[in-house]
Amino acid sequence: MKTVRVFDTTLRDGEQMPGVSLPQEYKIRIAKQLDKLGVDVIEAGFPSASRGEFESVKEISSLSLNAEICGLARIVKEDIDAALKADVDMVHIFVPTSKVQIEHTVKMSREEIIEKSVECVEYIKSHGVKCMFSAMDATRTEVGYLKQIFKAVEEAKVDIVNVPDTVGVATPFKFHEVVKQLREHLKVPIDVHCHNDFGLAVANTYAAVMAGANEVQVTVNGIGERAGNADLAQVVMILHAIEGIRTNIKTEHLFETSKLVERLTGVKIPPNHPIVGENAFSHESGIHAHGVLKEYSTFEPGVVTPEMVGHRRRIVIGKHAGRYQIRKILEEAGYYLDEDQLNQVFEKVKEMGDRGKRVTDLDLFAIAEVVIGELKREEKAILVDEVTVLTGNKITPTAVLNAEVFGRRKVTSAIGVGPVDASLKAVTSLVGESIRITEFRMDAITGGSDALAEVYVTVEDDEGHTFTSRGAAQDIVMASIDAVINAVNYLLRMKKRKS
Ligand code: KIV
Ligand code: ZN
Repeated sequence: MKTVRVFDTTLRDGEQMPGVSLPQEYKIRIAKQLDKLGVDVIEAGFPSASRGEFESVKEISSLSLNAEICGLARIVKEDIDAALKADVDMVHIFVPTSKVQIEHTVKMSREEIIEKSVECVEYIKSHGVKCMFSAMDATRTEVGYLKQIFKAVEEAKVDIVNVPDTVGVATPFKFHEVVKQLREHLKVPIDVHCHNDFGLAVANTYAAVMAGANEVQVTVNGIGERAGNADLAQVVMILHAIEGIRTNIKTEHLFETSKLVERLTGVKIPPNHPIVGENAFSHESGIHAHGVLKEYSTFEPGVVTPEMVGHRRRIVIGKHAGRYQIRKILEEAGYYLDEDQLNQVFEKVKEMGDRGKRVTDLDLFAIAEVVIGELKREEKAILVDEVTVLTGNKITPTAVLNAEVFGRRKVTSAIGVGPVDASLKAVTSLVGESIRITEFRMDAITGGSDALAEVYVTVEDDEGHTFTSRGAAQDIVMASIDAVINAVNYLLRMKKRKS
């Protein structure tokens, strides 16, 4: 079975995404996670770009990770020396090869570009370090010139050549043809680097592998310059699950890697993002949910399961929900309804959906409790009396809660990256370590700075039960606390009901 190597450039091209700038500490966390995921190469940065960039690459090189560490450089001695000084395992050199880029960005003839490239490859190799050579804007370069320059660096003992679709204009059939011709012409391994300007980065990367490419350059969540790069999870799962082509990726870590990069870069992926998006394995419509609950492959690809990528399947309640899924969710939470009661819940859910309301799990449970006559709610496990939040430009956001937990007074505090984070940490610390907030979303219901904020959270307990809850208030901190307290109270009630 063919194995394709994965070259991750989240920390280099990914970080070039407008608005993304990662401090060293975050880069190190991402590098460690990429290593756990099993990528073969981590492009840690562009060492000559700045002092901080150099330090980060050097620090990542010193971590003794299993992945090879790579640093980017132009075909300029100072750049290469910076990468070598950062102790990388591989220097990735690049030079423009297309007419438009040669004319406007480098003042060299095509012959000089080849000469200089060969010289740089030999210089890097003389230091006992691996070398990757990229012909920038390869997909707008004449194939004849590409063959010539790649052959020249191959003869200079380059370790791998890269074919970048720098401005994302390749299409799968054309890219397949170019890579096929290069594969026939060269002996050296071929790597591809695709940008997503037309939404084809993943398709082009896949086409290149089918044409004989040996390595793929990808980023977590597809982040990168402009519209981004080929998405790691999508490329890997197409190869594994559809084509049976192996990589060294431990796919069960894909979801957590996506979440970490989302959090540290601040670049949110949409819920419908393939493989790792919140909705990748979620079902709302009655027909789909019914099918999936009986046999998941009825309305999922089947060759990829949430477990394979470390994600989870969710049956979501909304106006398209069917009776079967409502009953199933309620029974899992310990509510047993007769036909008539189920019909009443079903009608209420539809009514809420028609009013444009998102129906959380807690809404559903509350409706069921009313219908089955548990009108008097059990005593609340947590009652928060006072909340104090400190924040400011030179203050670590801190929250202090004064609450009654199972009838006993408790004061707790926590710090966080912001006032909401600190408050949520304080709330979860009230009930110990066993609950996690896995999703947090805030919407302003009305406009203006006095808008009512609505917060949705997904909470997971130590047994893997997850459910959604809502909180609303004019103060965003209070709305967040409200949502989490509702969820925690329910969770504790459910545990009691089941025990
Ligand atoms: O898009 C591109 O061409 C690049 C090169 C540096 C490989 O990122
Ligand atoms: Zn790029």
